[in-house]
Amino acid sequence: MIDFVFQNPAKMIFGKTALSHLGEEAVKYGDKALLVYGGGSVKRNGLYDQVIAILTENHIQVWEISGIVPNPRLSRVREGIAVCRREGIGLVLALGGGSVIDTAKGIANGVPDNGDVWDFYMGKRTPKKALPLGVILTIPASGSEMSYSSVITNEDGMLKRGFNSVTNVPTFSILNPEWSFTLPPYQTACGCVDIMAHMMERYFTLVPHVELTDRLIAAGMKTILHNAFLVMANPTDYDARAEVMWTGALAHNTLLHTGRVGDWGSHKVEHELSAEYDIAHGAGLAIVFPAWMKYAVVQHPAKIAQFAMEILDVPADFGDETEIALEGVKRLETFYKSLGMPTRLSEAGIFGVDYDKLATRALPTEDATVGAYIVLHNKDIVEILKLAQ
Ligand code: NZQ
Ligand code: ZN
Repeated sequence: MIDFVFQNPAKMIFGKTALSHLGEEAVKYGDKALLVYGGGSVKRNGLYDQVIAILTENHIQVWEISGIVPNPRLSRVREGIAVCRREGIGLVLALGGGSVIDTAKGIANGVPDNGDVWDFYMGKRTPKKALPLGVILTIPASGSEMSYSSVITNEDGMLKRGFNSVTNVPTFSILNPEWSFTLPPYQTACGCVDIMAHMMERYFTLVPHVELTDRLIAAGMKTILHNAFLVMANPTDYDARAEVMWTGALAHNTLLHTGRVGDWGSHKVEHELSAEYDIAHGAGLAIVFPAWMKYAVVQHPAKIAQFAMEILDVPADFGDETEIALEGVKRLETFYKSLGMPTRLSEAGIFGVDYDKLATRALPTEDATVGAYIVLHNKDIVEILKLAQ
């Protein structure tokens, strides 16, 4: 186990009555809030009206940035920063999923900063402080409700980039699994794939003696494998939705990262796919992760074989380490398919990919690398994309 610092200051409010805490949390940050939300699901399911009613009862004046799209855009972040500065707003409130939350994070970081907010995403500068951020989560997937990350796409060049900072951790997050009842099956499935991926990125490590976090991650992954089927079969199964929602937050709040080094190569490759083809992040991961595993098995089969045996019940006498690992990949693909997810680019309707272009956008120079379980250069990304075709 390697040295670590663990800090996650997010206040998590969970369950059927969670929204009743919104007023008491919001008033701590003044009487002006910016409400950020997406393309209309929160209006259709009545959540928007409930939130506005609570804010109004608590004498909080509300400005809005709405119509945030999946794979959210930088221009909306800039727009939100301008509104907050002009109106002297004290709280940014995200009502939605990862795309909405990440936009709200960009706004919250940008308001007190004098430079260009995109610098944070390009790794040129680090934010010193941010406006308080409240989250009302409607889709368990990204883990952004408790994560250190914000991921935004710059329309200029379609660069999808993320940055990690403690200023990205929400001040409070309100999670009621009932709000995920209205998710279309496709989004439910994408969410389960992303949650699994956040745990797999951490599970695949070369750091030895990480038994506790291995077991915690295994518990999270088994919880998703079991409950994904339940929520797909019965979208209003509260207990199954609750298991998925809480696992989604814990999967990405860095607890499962303690004492180990994560990989994150698959996320890097996927972000190029969703920037270029505007596919859902979870669907992109269902395509990229199996391809990455097949590529990684050649160098380091051991942890992938452990994953196959412990998580996907491949028998220890199935074959040698590599055969066990590859059977695990096959079973993972079967799981994704059973959720209706694509596991190849072609199944997502993506053909004629310019592999070099995507690989070079991910890693612009020959020396640049990503990943730790296996270290990828841009030529490796080309090979992974070919395996994903
Ligand atoms: O826009 P609306 O109408 O609200 O519809 C949304 C959207 O179309 C819909 N939806 C959300 N809640 C719903 C609902 N529909 C019905 N009922 C509900 N309760 O779902 C669609 C997808 O929403 P989105 O926010 O894009 O999904 P997700 O939470 O998966 O977020 C994806 C984004 O997060 C980034 C991804 O790259 C992607 O841009 N990520 C953010 C991370 C982070 N900040 O820590 C980590 C992740 O690895 C990921 O990269
Ligand atoms: Zn993800």
